Formats: sequence, structure tokens, C-alpha cells
Amino acid sequence: MSRSLRVAPGGSLSGSLRVPGDKSISHRAVMLGAIADGVTEITGFLEGADAISTMQIFRALGVRIDGPQAGHVTVHGVGLHGLRAPAGALDCGNAGTAMRLLMGLLAGQRFGSTLVGDESLSKRPMRRVAEPLAAMGARIETREGCPPVRILPVEALHGIRYRLPMASAQVKSALLLAGLYAQGETTVIEPATTRDHTERMLGGFGVTVRRDGPAATLRGGQSLRASAIDVPADISSAAFFLVGASIAPGSDLLLEHVGVNPTRTGIVDILRLMGADIEVRNERVAGGEPVADLRVRAAALRGIAVPPELVPLAIDEFPVLFVAAACAHGRTVVTGAAELRVKESDRIAVMVDGLRALGVEATPTADGMVIEGRGERAAVFAPGAVHAHADHRIAMSFAIAGLRAAGELMVHDAANVATSFPGFEVLARAAGLRIEGHSQA
Ligand code: S3P
Repeated sequence: MSRSLRVAPGGSLSGSLRVPGDKSISHRAVMLGAIADGVTEITGFLEGADAISTMQIFRALGVRIDGPQAGHVTVHGVGLHGLRAPAGALDCGNAGTAMRLLMGLLAGQRFGSTLVGDESLSKRPMRRVAEPLAAMGARIETREGCPPVRILPVEALHGIRYRLPMASAQVKSALLLAGLYAQGETTVIEPATTRDHTERMLGGFGVTVRRDGPAATLRGGQSLRASAIDVPADISSAAFFLVGASIAPGSDLLLEHVGVNPTRTGIVDILRLMGADIEVRNERVAGGEPVADLRVRAAALRGIAVPPELVPLAIDEFPVLFVAAACAHGRTVVTGAAELRVKESDRIAVMVDGLRALGVEATPTADGMVIEGRGERAAVFAPGAVHAHADHRIAMSFAIAGLRAAGELMVHDAANVATSFPGFEVLARAAGLRIEGHSQA
């Protein structure tokens, strides 16, 4: 089934809303709950296709999991060595996080397994995980570096000290999870700060993870104690509304209970540098993660050179940041973001195509984009149609562009929105976006 989004132009965003649970944290909660001793209760779980894939995989690995029901999931942990050989291939769907973290978790098992994914995931690079895992003693086969990934049984892994060639929380996390099954210590050194949910959550499950500047170290063989996890709203989903309310005159929106882990708040920092009016209220801690309510009001944005050190802290938010840049006064330059080319789609190429189709001057570079903002106009985007290339974040970004369009926008190939943001259309409509979805068989 394919789905298109039709967005009528104009409108503003107001009221208060809570976007669904954090995708990164939801995946990790199931994974760590599964290999813990005891029962882990998760609330606020993201009931999107990606996190559901992870749940189904752990069921196939012999773990009893109840739910999800209204965001509540119960994971009956089987302990570090309690997973069982699956009967067939493990389907990660669209979820790169599921596949890469599972490669780490499964690399040290005494049974073999095969990980497969959908068309998009089947084109994404897995060597970045397979190679360091091989250095730990894992036996992993890929199809020229891409899925399917075949993991052969091993007796044991050994710890390594590994300097990541790219800023990737998925690779870091995969190696730390493999490190639980390794003899000795595993150290991962990252070239730039990336999301630290794995390290934090391991700590919450009683595993000691040492942090020394850019290096994270854990000793193998530590067992996990079940924990309760309250998943905050996903700042990557909130990002569409942060940008939407910033660019649509008259907007005033409150986003509730958003995860504001400092390794994820690059979007807030970048938008503020552009002149956005975002207030962080009522900061508190839930389930080991900082959360807050974010109030955002419309503001005149200006183009900036995005500081490269903020890029990994906002890596999933660039599609919608490009929309913000188009609505800013002056030029925005993004560099140091080559990783965007290997996400659910090549997010540089796909966004440039879509922005150009809507009359925006956008130039791709090897590691970013240059966008000429059209903020001086009330209507920034010409009416037209764009293709999301089955990438959830591209689809939602162009839907948000409707707030500053001169006419109707059509976003095709948008069915995958539900991988990270089930209910996007309903929530966005309630806030004021003039969006309507159409399915085709
Ligand atoms: C994620 C890490 C990031 C991000 C992805 C989720 C995670 O990927 O883009 O959506 O949960 O660890 P990379 O590690 O490839 O940068």
C-alpha cells in the first residue's frame, strides 16, 4: 500500500500536544529488558513499526513480551545468556537501529542468526558494524557490506579498543552490547558526541559503563537487573512541530514531556541560532533521561552556517531543518553531515530534489547543502508534488512545508511515516496543519 499526503497551504500551529515515544529509547528498552534478569516494565513505548520489529525479533529469540497496550510493554527478561536460536530470519523492517544494535547483541551468541530488512534497509551499510565485531572475534557475513547479515555462532568474543571512523551511536551501541559478551574490556572512542541512551540505560540496568572523555568502556560478563523505563516523547518527532510553529506566523505551541538529553538537543540549539523562540520549561528527569516541555512561538528565522559539532546532535532533524532554512532570511550552509547520505534515504539528494521542485534554490555538497532562504516572502514554497522515497522524516518535513506554501503540496510515497510517528496526521491536523492522507492499493 502506498500513501500520499495532501497539504493545503497556510495555517498556524497552536495548543499543546505530546508526540509519541522516543524511537532510540524504545528499541533499547526492549533489548536490555530482554537480556536482563527479571521483569522490565516500559511505559511511553513507541508503537511504531520500527520498535515493533524489535519486539517481534525478541519474541522470536524466546523472550515473552506483553503489549504494547497504550504504550505499556512488559518484557520478561531471560538473562544475559537466555536467548534461544530463532526458527527463521529476523526481520528488522525499516529499522537501522534494530539491525545494527542486534548485530552487536547477537554476535556473541552460541547460536547463529540472520537479519533481514526492507528495500531501504537492504541498501544501508553494515560493514561499519561487522568489521569491528570481527575484530572482537565475531563471524559475520554480509552481501557486499549490506543486509542480509548472517551471524555465525561463536564460543566467546574478546574486548577491543576501537576508534569509530564516523560519529554513529548505532555503531557505538552495537560494540558496547557485544562487549557484554566479550572477555575483558571493550572501549569505544567516538570522534564527536553522539546520543548516549545505551550507556545511560545500561547504567540503569546496573551495568558499569566508564566514561572518559570521548571513550566509553565496559567489562564483559556483567549481568543486567530489570528496570522500569518511562520513555519520553521523541525530540526527533517534536522537531517537525518545533520547525512548523517557528515558520508559521501566529503559532504558539506547547510540546509536552519531550526528551531533552543533551546528546539530542542539537535541533533546539540550531533553531535558536537561527532566531527561533523556544522556551524549555519544567525540566525534570524521567527513567534516567532529562525531559521538559517545550514552548515554541513563531519567529523570523535567519540563515546560518550550522556549527559542525552540532550536526551529530541533530542528525535526524536535518530534513526538517532544511525546510526551516528555506523559510529563513539569507543563506544556510550545512557541512559535516555526510552521514545524511546513508540514512533511510540519501537525505541530501532527496531533500534537494524536493526543495527544488517547490521553487527553493538548494545546492547539494558532498557533506551537506547550501540553501538560499526565502523568508522575506509569506509563501516560501511553490505548489507542487514531491517524493518522500519511503523515508518517514522526508515525508513529514515536506508536510510541514505546507504551512508556508503558496498552494497545495502533495507528498508521495509517505506510508513509512508510521515507522517513527504513528498518528502524525491526526496530531498535526489537531495542531492546525491542513493535512489529509490518501492511500492507494
Ligand atoms: C540512532 C542513531 C542514529 C540515528 C538513528 C537512531 C540510534 O544513527 O540517525 O535514527 O538509535 O542509535 P547513526 O548511528 O547511524 O548516526
